[in-house]
Amino acid sequence: MKKSLFWSAALVVCFVAYCLMSGQHASRSFVSEAKAMPPNDACIAPTQMAATPEETAWRLFVSATCPANSDKYPYVVWENWIEQGQLYTSSGNVMSLAMGQRPRFHESPLSVEIKKRFKVKPKARAQLLPQVANQDCNSQTWSGRTICEEARLNPEAAQFVTNNNLTTLKGQEQFIAAGKTFNFSRPSIEVKADWIQLPSCSNPPQGVHVETVGNTCYALGGIHLISKLIDEWVWATFEPQNTATNPQRCVVLGCKDSWGSNPATTSGATTQLTPALSGLMSTAGLADEWKNYRLNGVQVSFVDGHGQPTRLGNSIIEGDNAGNPTIMKSSSCITCHDLSTINAQGKHLPIDFIIGPPKAVPAGYFRRDFVWSFLLAR
Ligand code: HEC
Repeated sequence: MKKSLFWSAALVVCFVAYCLMSGQHASRSFVSEAKAMPPNDACIAPTQMAATPEETAWRLFVSATCPANSDKYPYVVWENWIEQGQLYTSSGNVMSLAMGQRPRFHESPLSVEIKKRFKVKPKARAQLLPQVANQDCNSQTWSGRTICEEARLNPEAAQFVTNNNLTTLKGQEQFIAAGKTFNFSRPSIEVKADWIQLPSCSNPPQGVHVETVGNTCYALGGIHLISKLIDEWVWATFEPQNTATNPQRCVVLGCKDSWGSNPATTSGATTQLTPALSGLMSTAGLADEWKNYRLNGVQVSFVDGHGQPTRLGNSIIEGDNAGNPTIMKSSSCITCHDLSTINAQGKHLPIDFIIGPPKAVPAGYFRRDFVWSFLLAR
């Protein structure tokens, strides 16, 4: 008995000594690694424009997509941000959610408006994936698939809305009556994400971020990211390279990204990541599926250097969900968003697929700094 006690004690001593040594070793190698790699700023949102708009777009995407949890919601940083539906409630009071509780998906307010205006008939649809009934989402999409949506505001953006009491129409009317200007602080960021409902999660699409909400599986088919780094905001949009979920990616408008994609342009064929982008993603520790997302393009002005209208749209968000490929030909994030206005009666100019320079705003209307979700205020 005494002997075995001695051996156990000796074993414990050896084990502790081993742990101390290997611990020392581990911390030594951690220090040398930390020296080799500068602190991880890939997860910090940019506060100024990078060398090119494309690099800026990717720094926004990567920092917003840095991991939050590996195995449960919220998976990425932007999923911790407030959803627009939590701001524009019937009382105007912000609705808070319990930790880890997911805000409800909804139908795209853009698609609701466009259907009303253009009476888009879901006629020539291609049945790409079976649809499952979902009351809150849009099942009358161009492809016939059910697409759900959410829009998130980072804390800076949400603060501008709440600090100025802009969550109700009355608050917005008082704001313009007081002669104040809608002007988000830097760096406000907003995300609009479209999720394609899948029949199940048993055979998920390759290289596409999927999540189970309730008992239903959704694939993240399109993601818009905007940031107030410049007065007109930076407009960027991303899609995964998967022809089952995103058959129309880059087809109508083409895609262009000289910073992150090789080759830089494509009309739908898959491309490789540049070493610069793949390095940024690895530094940030992004989950593998994000490395299959590509930037469709980035918009920073109404017209290009030759005075020609710039165009940008996402095949899932503006194409499938809100319209059809024909409508997408006149998709310009910045021009359509510039129509977000309000007058003393709480009315706004109609949403329209228009391109080119900003329209003159009729007397009595005031711009809402390109942010359309203000129309959800009651
Ligand atoms: C034809 C008009 C139109 C076009 C084109 C358009 N949007 Fe929007 N967008 C809207 C409307 C309307 C909303 C508000 C309702 C909603 O959430 O869908 C919106 C919402 C958003 C939001 C949530 C924040 C906000 O402003 O309410 C983001 C982010 C966004 N759009 C980005 C983009 C980007 C990036 C593009 C181009 C790739 C784009 N949009 C193209 C009309 C448009």
